[in-house]
Parts: sequence; C-alpha cells; structure tokens
Amino acid sequence: MSNPTSKDASQYNRRSFLKTGTVAVAGLTVADYGFARAKTETLAMSGGEKTITFPKDQFAALTKWPRYGDAEKQALCGLLDNNKFYDELPAFEQEWKDYTKAPFVKNHINGTSALTSMYFALDLPPGSEIMVPSYTFFATCLAMRFFGCVPIFVDIDPKTATFDLEDAKRKLTPRTKAVVPMHSWGLPCQMDAISDWAKEKGLIVLEDAAHAHGASMQGKKMGTWGAMGIYSFQASKVMPCVEGGMGMYNTREYFERATAFGHYDLPGKFPKDSPIYAYDGTGFGQKYRMHPLAAALGRQQLKGLDAVNQLVEKNVRAMNDPLTKLDGLTEPHCRPDQKRVYYCGNMVLIDFKKVGFSRDALVKALKAEGVNASFWDYPEQHKLKIYSEAKWWNHPPTIPQSMPGNAYINGNHLFLPLIYGEAPELIAQYVQAFEKVWAHRTELAKA
Ligand SMILES: Cc1ncc(COP(=O)(O)O)c(C=O)c1O
Repeated sequence: MSNPTSKDASQYNRRSFLKTGTVAVAGLTVADYGFARAKTETLAMSGGEKTITFPKDQFAALTKWPRYGDAEKQALCGLLDNNKFYDELPAFEQEWKDYTKAPFVKNHINGTSALTSMYFALDLPPGSEIMVPSYTFFATCLAMRFFGCVPIFVDIDPKTATFDLEDAKRKLTPRTKAVVPMHSWGLPCQMDAISDWAKEKGLIVLEDAAHAHGASMQGKKMGTWGAMGIYSFQASKVMPCVEGGMGMYNTREYFERATAFGHYDLPGKFPKDSPIYAYDGTGFGQKYRMHPLAAALGRQQLKGLDAVNQLVEKNVRAMNDPLTKLDGLTEPHCRPDQKRVYYCGNMVLIDFKKVGFSRDALVKALKAEGVNASFWDYPEQHKLKIYSEAKWWNHPPTIPQSMPGNAYINGNHLFLPLIYGEAPELIAQYVQAFEKVWAHRTELAKA
C-alpha cells in the first residue's frame, strides 16, 4: 500500500494551518473559536462567506478511495510478466488467515459468492429460517433462497445501526436455525450477547463482515466469531481488491462443504475421510474462484490495512469529538471492547426533532459552507419486491410492518467524508462549518 498521506495534501499541515488560520487566538480552542465566530457570521446559503476554503484538489486527493500505489502496480505488472497468477490465491489466503487468526479461509469471486457458499454449507432442511438484518446488502438475505432457507428480517439498534438482539428475540420461531449479524459501516455487532443467546437457543451464528476489515471485538477479529463468516473486497470496501471475497470457517466440516460449492478442484485436496473428497472435479456446481489479480491487490492492501484504519480513526476522532458536543449530534455507539473501522463514510446521527430543523435544510446549509455532507438510505430489504412474491420462497418471508431502527438510522444519519491523510485544517474547517450552522438553528428551522 502506498503511503496514505498525499504529498499535495500533506502541504496543508498543522503548522501552515496555525500560521494562516485565524484560529490562533490566545486561549481559545478550535471549538471555542468556532462558537464565538459562528454566531456573528452569516450562513453561506444566505450570502455569507463559505467556511471551507481548503483547496478542492487537495480535498479530492485526501478522500480518494480506493488508493493504489506503486506496490500494487508492481505486483500486478510482476504477475503479468511471470504468469504465476494462481500462486497469489494461496498466498493471499495464508496472509489473511494469519491476520484474522481464522482456522480456515477460502477466496471467492466476491462477498456474494462467499455468502452463497456459506448458506450451502449449512445443509439445513428446506423452510429453515435465518435471521438477517433488513438494513443490509441484498446478498445477506437473498443468497439463502437457493437452498430453501427463508430470511427473518431483524431490525437494527438505532444507537449502533447494527443487529438488534431484542428484536431477534421477539421473532424467534421453532424453524429459526441461524442468525447473521452484519457489522454495519465497520462497527461490530454485540457479538458476545448475540453468541450467548444463540447458544442458549441452539442457533448457528454466522457473520457478514463485508464492511469490517480490521475490526475486532475483545481482541477477536470480526468474521471469526461465528461458525462461518464472509468478507467482500469490492472496490469501495475497507480493503479493496476491485472485486473479491473471502469465506471464514471455524470448522473443517463447514470449510470443506462451503468451499466445494464453488471450487471444483478442492475436494481431492481434502483428507480422504472427508465426505466431500469424492466430489473432486465437480464440486457442487459453481466456479467461485477469486481473480488472481484481485488477490495480488489484496496482498498489498493488507500490508497497509491497519495503518490506514488507524489514520482514518484518528481523523474521525478529530472531527467527531468536537461535533458530538453539538446539541442533538451523536455517532453510533462503539463499546470500549470493540475496535471499529470505518467503511464508506463517517456516519453521524442527528436527532432532527431535537435540533428543530430538517435534514434537507442541514445538508443545504452545510453544502453551501463547502462541507461534503450526504445521506444514503440503505434500501430496506424487506420492502423489495422479491421478498413479497411467494413463488421464490420455500415459505413466504414475513414482511414486518415497521422497522423503527432502520427508519431512525435512514432518516437521521449524515455521511461525512473519510480522510486518508494528515489534514488538521480541513477537519477544523468542517467543525467550524457545523458550529456556524448550529449557531443559526432558528434560521435553519425556517428554511
Ligand atoms: C453487507 C454486505 N454484504 C455482502 C456484500 C457482497 O459483497 P460483494 O459486492 O463483494 O458481492 C456487500 C457488498 O456491498 C455488503 O455491503
């Protein structure tokens, strides 16, 4: 992985910021100064000056994702020269296994194929129910369909945007066999409580860790808490290989069955006593091998994963520590024993009832200040057509009437950019822009 600090962007370091920035007022912190100034200034959307003066090209360089550098280019060119494509796959698996400490892993074309193989490996009787969040990508819920399983849609907790165990408890039926927590935006689900409950009820714990490369809980990497789990290495992800996926398996039985689904050449490599051994040459009908060039990207990205996650976390803290002092603005709650990562954006939560203005008004005001603020509502799976058509299912999934957690998160979040370099001035300007907007709450309420 190339150094995540862009050369251009790093010119804007703390020293030049303090020299040029008006913030160097004796005795005032950035936040204090922001509040003092904010009250007297006119909002940019009402004709005042924009708060963000940070150069746009440097902003683009700091927020670009994915980030590939010389190491990736050399790895790809080396492979095109030496044609040893397929050596990349076991090498990448070994390095990922060492990193996550998973007992067994297997490469897949993408996270979706890893999920499909995982559901195949369960070997559950048709009509078995599997608990999934509705707030997720389609593949978490839909890939089980091929094996006669049926999703039970579970809400998310509005404080974390992750799997709501209390809702799962309410929806348990005698047909429920497994649960699939998804670590939304890189924040681990409450895996200890979920695992304890699942054990008590005889449910299999699975994980969708597509957003959570490098995240852990109680020192244990996500994807290794469950009997099986998956990662996606798609281009937007925390560890991007453009496309790619990984299956995570806690037992040899699950590993052999899941991997034989899409890897026709593996069964002959299993011990002869394996019930899957005899399926060599066919597997179970799919070909899900990861593209070796993607694995080559993954190997380079993995080397820089922890450093990038650390830098992103530092920048999020520099932004969110002051932002969460604003009335009504919080962030998804992360427990001290959880180490989260950040996928897609820095999601903050705003209680719009409390602040008294709408999200549209806020985004308009922030954008006018030059803040790259956006929101993106996760399509709620249970509302999509395929789940309400009985013909696709062993028995029709129950479509919940309401999902208050989904609704709260979709309606009250804002995404701020993740910053992949040193950028104290940019961060301070973002904080100032929020403070300025908050200082004009009454005006915004009328907008
Ligand atoms: C939560 C979740 N699960 C699974 C996947 C599937 O991964 P892929 O796109 O690699 O198939 C994604 C991809 O966006 C995802 O966000």
